[in-house]
Amino acid sequence: MSDYLFLIESRLNPEQWQVVLRMQKAAEARGMNLYMVGGAIRDLIGGFPIEDLDFVVEGNALKIVRELSRQKVHIPWQNDSLRAAEMEFPSGVSASVCMARSETYGKPGAPPVIAPATIVSDLKRRDFTINAIGVSLNPQSRGLLLDPTNGLADIEKKELRTLNNYSFLDDPVRIFRAVRFRARLRFSFEPKTATQYQNATESDAQEMASGEAVAHELRRIARERTPVEALKALEKEKLLLVLSPCLRDSRLNLQEIGRASKISHSLAKAGLLAPSFPLFFYLLTRKLPARDQTRLAKWLKLRKPETDLWRRMEANAKRLAKQLGGKAASTPTKLYHLLAAAPADLILFLQLLFPQKKIQARIKLFLQKQLPLRSRLPEQELQEMGVASGTPRYQKILDTHFYAVLEGKVRTRTEQKKFLKSLVQKGK
Ligand code: CTP
Repeated sequence: MSDYLFLIESRLNPEQWQVVLRMQKAAEARGMNLYMVGGAIRDLIGGFPIEDLDFVVEGNALKIVRELSRQKVHIPWQNDSLRAAEMEFPSGVSASVCMARSETYGKPGAPPVIAPATIVSDLKRRDFTINAIGVSLNPQSRGLLLDPTNGLADIEKKELRTLNNYSFLDDPVRIFRAVRFRARLRFSFEPKTATQYQNATESDAQEMASGEAVAHELRRIARERTPVEALKALEKEKLLLVLSPCLRDSRLNLQEIGRASKISHSLAKAGLLAPSFPLFFYLLTRKLPARDQTRLAKWLKLRKPETDLWRRMEANAKRLAKQLGGKAASTPTKLYHLLAAAPADLILFLQLLFPQKKIQARIKLFLQKQLPLRSRLPEQELQEMGVASGTPRYQKILDTHFYAVLEGKVRTRTEQKKFLKSLVQKGK
């Protein structure tokens, strides 16, 4: 029984594991049953990288969300009728939680009638068997695998299988999801699912997908390791035309999205998180006529902060480029201050779309020299000199030392040590 708990603990990174423990504690305190479900379990079992964590609670999940929001957990999205929310933990881990529910569908694309349900009914309302697996996080059954539709076998066979004949018609965004998962996981459709997919697309069921559901898909694509692969797969199936009839051929900006994704991988190595959904959306729609861009953003019902960032992206990037090319970045210290305060998205934007030598060279200096230097502050030496860590004085000395090294005022290791000592003595 405990094997799956062991798998969870060993496959998650320490920050993600802490989130599991925190959720467990919050659910236990309220006497609620908690399960880990969906993509995280699929990726755990399939050996794929685990990005976001999905939780289900039997009961009102928002009670847990309210408590967490009081503890510095950011809630970018919440749905009161689904009792569902997305959460961003201070450690950078993203997760979602919702109430276990059953769904009954009427018209295609229209929201289903929902009702509180058990975890097993909740798993059975999902899109594909591989996403309908749960692991209990409850004291009596912690680590127990719940797999009512044998998703485990489908992960092994590398197949996508819907849970019922009407899955694509009930929730047409699953047409998009099927194509995305097939491309990302390199799975194939099992024969019945392939027929359902073909029937659904031949009757243009994809046109019935709601804008909000498609927006959720786009947010997911923006977070893919290779978004271009997902977009190419959707383009091949002519699904992007649902977003805009112009979103094809040279108006589909795959080249820049591909380059942005490569840049984002190197930014991630430097500890900078990018790109965000607004940047992805900016690049995706960049070559569309302005009218189509606005129409699409409206149909998708983008969240206000997303729309604001998307609309201001270009102006903000131009402003940063101007500062970066001018006096605001004319010394190493000024450069560091400017870029350390800039959103990673804008740095990526400049790397992608501002080829000017000076701008590129300054960003390179920041990423390749200044950031590594910042991560190697002489903390141990300072503590050995008797300065208590975490105090304002400690931080001040580290900062003064860092800026002196940045400016080239102290170069060799011996000079740096001597300088540090002098700072400590001066402060006494
Ligand atoms: N789900 C569903 N039908 C949808 C959307 C989501 O059944 N239209 C269920 C699936 O069980 C899915 C879970 O909700 O696994 C979480 O959805 P989401 O976060 O969008 O997908 P993940 O499977 O977690 O995929 P990713 O790895 O891209 O985050």
